[in-house]
This record gives sequence, structure tokens and C-alpha cells, in this order.
Amino acid sequence: MRHERQVELLQRVADSGEHFVGLHGSRSMINPASAYTDPERHARELKVLFRDGPTLLGLSCEMASPGDYLTTTLDGIPLAVIRQADGTLRAIINACRHRAAPLFTERSGSTGRAIVCNYHAWTYDTEGTLLARPLSAGAFDDVTNTCNLHHVAVAEKYGLIFVRAGSNESIDVDQTLGGAQDDLESFGLGGYTHVETRTNEWDMNWKLILDTFTESYHIRTLHKNSLAAYFNSDCVLYEDFGRNFLSVGLRSNVLDEVTKPQQDWSILPYSTIQYFLVPNALVVHQIDHIEVWRLEPLGVGRVRTHTSLFAPEPPNERARQYWIKNLDLLLKVTGSEDFPTMERIYRALASGAVPEVVYGRIEPPLVHFHTALNAALDAAQA
Ligand code: FES
Ligand SMILES: [Fe+2]
Repeated sequence: MRHERQVELLQRVADSGEHFVGLHGSRSMINPASAYTDPERHARELKVLFRDGPTLLGLSCEMASPGDYLTTTLDGIPLAVIRQADGTLRAIINACRHRAAPLFTERSGSTGRAIVCNYHAWTYDTEGTLLARPLSAGAFDDVTNTCNLHHVAVAEKYGLIFVRAGSNESIDVDQTLGGAQDDLESFGLGGYTHVETRTNEWDMNWKLILDTFTESYHIRTLHKNSLAAYFNSDCVLYEDFGRNFLSVGLRSNVLDEVTKPQQDWSILPYSTIQYFLVPNALVVHQIDHIEVWRLEPLGVGRVRTHTSLFAPEPPNERARQYWIKNLDLLLKVTGSEDFPTMERIYRALASGAVPEVVYGRIEPPLVHFHTALNAALDAAQA
């Protein structure tokens, strides 16, 4: 993150006054429980946000070489993106044109120069053009379809890869990021190394996963035996970028930094810098590494999470163990403290006995996230 930017953020903390109230938002908000539990609304979210809109596939460093691929599923649509010989990307529907078997079954890997279906061995080039239907003795010679793989849109910039699951309509990454690109570019994401991705499933609406990370207000109480001693529970630094937003969680000793001469200020050792790329991703600069969360809604009350850790340089065995311990800790705290609470929240909301939730001015990212989401759904309906 650029130094002037770090100074600007730290100055806001320094100027925020008693209990950091200067970092509070301008208004509270009431959101009906149905925003989380209504199946009809959920179907609209899938269509508007996950199918028609751009979503984050992953980081460029996860598929750096020709032949490398990444897969994902969005609103049920299986996708694969493949790095071409010239370095560009092609996105295909990950289903064979014969009888729709998946061409790739892993999250990532390398396909080499051809894609071979593991059902009956139909073979495609890396752009998705059918090359051969081997061992069929001409049995498909009367088929008039082209049988090339279907394409959808993919775009890559700032070390981030976005796809549009539902169509080939091109993606403007700058427009998608809405201003967050200045900071994200400064992280140099292209230079990181993927260490590991872990996948879990939870009984809650997908938005509750993102809600979990929006505010620090819960740290003092929910994380009293884990994080509370080290983190500030009174505020987050918040900014919005269109539908996306930034929420920076701070260490409890952050004000130590502003006692130094300003040219020496750095926010990085004191902060968890979280970019929410709505709808499906959270890109986090965490002191000495990057974490990426991706969400895959499976139903109105079920969500799959993919949590990836990226190291600033290729790790040796010792460094790898260090990063794995970081990932273990992250998933232990979220998996034993945050998400079980969010699952209970979902059950309460789904019971019909709780009409609404309240987001306070101490939780400004929540107000923005849900206001912008409601507006996007309304706009799509209109
Ligand atoms: S489904 Fe792919 S070759 Fe048959
Ligand atoms: Fe938490």
C-alpha cells in the first residue's frame, strides 16, 4: 500500500477522537430477516450477482503458466479458465460437448496442450475447439453441431481474475473494482505464491459470511479468549468503492504508530486490510501475507467457503509450515467462534420469529453492503 495512503488512513484513526467515534458511519440501518432467508430473493441474488455479474475467480498467480487452469461454480454453472500459450485467458463452460461430463474435476492444475474428457476422451485445444473424437469409428460424422466448448467472459488485471458465468459480455475490471484498484494494485498480488486452499460448508446465507468480517465490534465479546487482547473492538476504517468496500480492522496498539515522525508511519503491521469484492470474494492483506475468501452459495441457507493463503515469495518447507499454521489459526477462530454464531443467527432469522436485524453506526460496512445490495437488486428488477 502506498505510503501516502497509509498515512491518510492512520491520520483518520489519530483524528477519530474518544472511542474512535469519528470513524462511525453516518447512519444506522434496519434490514428485514427476509434479506437473508427469502428463497425468492436468494434466486434473484444468484441471477443478478453470481450469474450475470462479474465475480472473482482467483489470483493470477494461481495460474501463471500456459496450460494452467482454475475452476469454479457460479449459480450452478461449472466454469474453467485456461491460460493460453500467449499468456491470455479463455473461460469455458466446464462440460464436454458430448454428454456434458466435466473436463476438469480439480480446482486447479495444468492441462498441457490439450483438454481430454475423461468420460470418452473427446479432445479439445486449450481454447476449447474440438480436435478429435477418438475411438468412435466415425460414429459422430453426421453430427452438424460444431461441438466446440462454450465460452464466457474472463478478464485479468492487477493480479485478479474475474469471470462472468452467464454470458460472454466483456468485463471491465476497473469498473468492477470501482476505485479499489489503486490499493489492490499496490499489493503486487501477481508476485505472491499460492500456499493452500481449504473448502468448508456452512448452514447459513452467503451474506452472513461476509457480514462476519465487516466489523470489529464483536471482537471484544465473541473473541474474548482468542483475538480480543490484540485487536481494537471500537472501530474499523471503512470506505466504499461502488458496491465493493474496504474494512480495515486495527490492532489495539495502532495509536503507537502515530507517535512516530510521519515519514516513518506504516499501517501494515497494525491492520487487517479487507477488500470486499461483492458478491463473492474478500481479499485480505494480513500483515505479511494475503488471504482470499471465495463464496459459493449452495442454497438460501447453505454456503461453501474457499479460503486461500498466499505467501509473498515461494516458501521453503519451513516457511510452508509457518503459513499452514497461519491458515490453521484463521480457520480455527472463524470455524469455532464466528461461523457457529452466524449459523445460529441464520436459524433464528429463518424461524420467522425475528423480523429484522439492526446495523449500527459502529458497523458502517454493514450499512453500505446491504444498502448497495438492495439497490442493485431493485435496479435489476426495474
Ligand atoms: S462426455 Fe466427454 S467424451 Fe463423452
Ligand atoms: Fe470475528
